[in-house]
Amino acid sequence: MTDKKAQLTVEGLNETLELPVYSGTVGPDVIDVRGLVSKGFFTYDPGFVSTASCESKITFIDGDLGVLLHRGYPIETLAEKSEYLETCYLLLHGELPTQAQYEEFKHVITHHTMVNESIARFLTGFHYDSHPMAMLCGVVGALSAFYHDSMDVSNPQHRMISAHRLIAKMPTLAAMCYKHRVGQPFMYPQNNMSYSENFLHMMFGTPCDPPNVNPVLARAMDRIFLLHADHEQNASTSTVRLAGSSGANPFACIAAGIATLWGPAHGGANEAVLDMLEEIGDVSNIDKFVAKAKDKNDPFRLMGFGHRVYKNFDPRAKVMKQTCDEVLAELGIDNDPLLPIAKRLEQIALEDPYFIEKKLYPNVDFYSGIIMKAIGIPTEMFTVIFATGRTVGWISHWHEMLSEGYKIGRPRQLYKGYPSREFPSRESR
Ligand code: CMC
Repeated sequence: MTDKKAQLTVEGLNETLELPVYSGTVGPDVIDVRGLVSKGFFTYDPGFVSTASCESKITFIDGDLGVLLHRGYPIETLAEKSEYLETCYLLLHGELPTQAQYEEFKHVITHHTMVNESIARFLTGFHYDSHPMAMLCGVVGALSAFYHDSMDVSNPQHRMISAHRLIAKMPTLAAMCYKHRVGQPFMYPQNNMSYSENFLHMMFGTPCDPPNVNPVLARAMDRIFLLHADHEQNASTSTVRLAGSSGANPFACIAAGIATLWGPAHGGANEAVLDMLEEIGDVSNIDKFVAKAKDKNDPFRLMGFGHRVYKNFDPRAKVMKQTCDEVLAELGIDNDPLLPIAKRLEQIALEDPYFIEKKLYPNVDFYSGIIMKAIGIPTEMFTVIFATGRTVGWISHWHEMLSEGYKIGRPRQLYKGYPSREFPSRESR
């Protein structure tokens, strides 16, 4: 907090309004506009382009410099020195765990990975070709029906149990959504496997084969989860906070976050990238698609490019690109017809004046799709994997909001509809 004030004069108003200005640890100051309503004004910011919706200590982004910090640690450092579950602990608790704390956390998460057998029966009620995001959304919301013992959102212990359950069960549920689609038996989690090994085992293992997970792919999977773990007040996280601000239970809130993530402008972009590469089909068609993307009258956009906050290289994309190269080398993939298209698009984005002027860099979804395809994950599972990694971010923000005091989220509007009018009789319309 600072003593700084912003002064606002409004035509026709005889006083100058003084608004408090607060400074964060780093990043832009914020002007506290809460007093404006008593003077007869709302602020107007569709899309929340200039609005800080809350105070938070979890994640910081400097979009111009391409910086992403979780609890103060740069994402590149976490990707190099940490692993997904350790980063989960950091996001949730605010500090890195000691060795003993980490062992206990891993134990707790591992021993919450199994889901109630009724969930399996519930999931098989979906049509076999349902989109896995549709199934995930439904099945995570349905977890609300199972845990009445720990649903008091004002109790920090209950909140932590729910956080553990969600982080632990998401890979199990994600893999079950996939298995239902392909008609294979659900695989139980294995307590002797790491989080990411377990996920790959539940995705690709069958009861007929002994467990066999490639450690390079497990490491890549872990990195994909880690790089998606949190991203400040994005659309899905803000949705989780908004849903949570009404006192809704955590499983319902995370289901709301999953629904928001699904859209192609957000987490659905990773699936859309692969669909786009397939639609382009050949390097010779790229110019046509780039021209479409630049045409103001054409709604087509290059998926996997641009970001609301990053006006520089997305730092997650840099690490993802490196992981992408590692995975392709490990698997010896150099003949995928989509790869030259992806590489050429990346080159265009970094050289073409349209993309340079608008600061449209490849984002995290551009490379993650290529890696996941190489691992053998079908495109419709991409956003499910994003949701799995992001669950810790959602639940950490939800927990922070409930720990630190909150009001129900209730935006106002600029009303442009009719003023009060007479109801005409049916005959006179
Ligand atoms: N291809 C072509 N032009 C683009 C693109 C693109 N991918 N993205 C933005 N633009 C243009 C846009 O037309 C606009 O031009 P103008 O100023 O002439 O009207 C300008 O760049 C600014 O774009 P905007 O839509 O005002 O920016 P925004 O902050 O509202 O949207 C975005 C950000 C991510 C939704 C958008 O860049 C986009 O739709 N990208 C493709 C989808 C995508 O890859 N999404 C994943 C984001 S990263 C993962 C995540 O956080 O979920």
